[in-house]
Amino acid sequence: MISNHETRLYLAAHPVAYPLVRLLARLGPVVRVPGLGVVVNDAAVARAVLTDDRFRKDGPGSPGDLWTPVLGPSVLLNMEGEAHLALRRKLAPLFAPASVDPLVRDVLNEPLADLSRRLADGETVDLVDSMRLMAGAVIGRLIGLEEVGEKAARELFADGERVVSMVSLRSRRLADRQVAVARAVLDRIGDIASAAYHRGGETTVMGRMRSLGLSEAEARGAAGAFFLTGTETVATFVPRLVALLHDHGTSEFDLDTAIDEAMRFTTPTPVMLRSVAAPGRVGRVQVRPGDRVVIVTHNCARAYGPFDPARKHPAEVRHLWFGAGPHFCIGYPLAQAEIRAVAEVVLRHRPRIVARRAARRVLIPTYAQLWIAHAR
Ligand code: HEM
Repeated sequence: MISNHETRLYLAAHPVAYPLVRLLARLGPVVRVPGLGVVVNDAAVARAVLTDDRFRKDGPGSPGDLWTPVLGPSVLLNMEGEAHLALRRKLAPLFAPASVDPLVRDVLNEPLADLSRRLADGETVDLVDSMRLMAGAVIGRLIGLEEVGEKAARELFADGERVVSMVSLRSRRLADRQVAVARAVLDRIGDIASAAYHRGGETTVMGRMRSLGLSEAEARGAAGAFFLTGTETVATFVPRLVALLHDHGTSEFDLDTAIDEAMRFTTPTPVMLRSVAAPGRVGRVQVRPGDRVVIVTHNCARAYGPFDPARKHPAEVRHLWFGAGPHFCIGYPLAQAEIRAVAEVVLRHRPRIVARRAARRVLIPTYAQLWIAHAR
């Protein structure tokens, strides 16, 4: 039942690719697939690749190929080495729980009170729609908007979706037309970030970037990267978490353990890419410069069995869905704070699912609608 719903989400998102990806898992921990790359289906091997600097994010076939034309050359997710480390060191404090917890509380306080009131009043609520609004509001504040009303939050979310939807599991580069559309969206994000950067001050992320000595271009680039990576990932996950817990039927669980397990089972970013910079081995497969490594996080994570909200994860797979090594998700504390804040409120209502519909042909599998109501 549980797996069926999640499988349906993956099949609705990737009707052709998903069955093939799952088939690859049966071929072994590492397998070379002509035209695709060296595919990794094993958590320990994935971790070894992610923590080895011969496997990079700025070479041919890496995410850099996809995003550099849109975001510029220096936005963490397409950087390596000293420059990457230096920028991470500067940005990391901005994402520490002490920074992001108050931001999330402040932005979500009202929307969550409203959501809770509606559920308590017996209303049926589309959690997908609510989550888009809340994720849009959080990212709006992060990139520098002082006030993020409902309209602005929805527009931000839709803008992000428009850019992310240009990418498929097979994309290696964006077409010129797509780059132009994405740049127009990211210019708007950059302008919001620039304005906040110039206002300065210690209370906004962009203001703090300025006092940390980041250039305006770096702050604009970082805002674009946060916007693209930190909106849909969180928004799509929460309805899946709530649905998984509902379908599992348990009401006794530790929320943090359940969130980790739902992350493992859903893997919101199902794949990570690397470009090989020096000869070596991935598992037993010999690789050479220019090869592409496709870490199928989804296969690595699914090897550990069905969804069980009490499951503790062994070291090799722990948090792999947020990456590992130098590129480990910098937004992890923000994602956790946001997910926990919403889940705590929604799950208090012990929601029942009234109706659900899978989203079709999207990059991150999810519900198009998840209508929930307070338990009777
Ligand atoms: C459910 C939520 C999220 C998931 C599953 C997720 C997943 C990931 C993964 C797997 C990576 C590493 C990719 C790789 O090594 O190739 C990553 C990196 C990154 N994430 Fe997240 N992420 C989430 C939320 C966020 C949020 C909320 C933000 C910020 C607002 C964010 C910003 C970033 C950035 C900037 C990087 C690049 C870091 C670097 O290359 O040094 N993410 N994320």
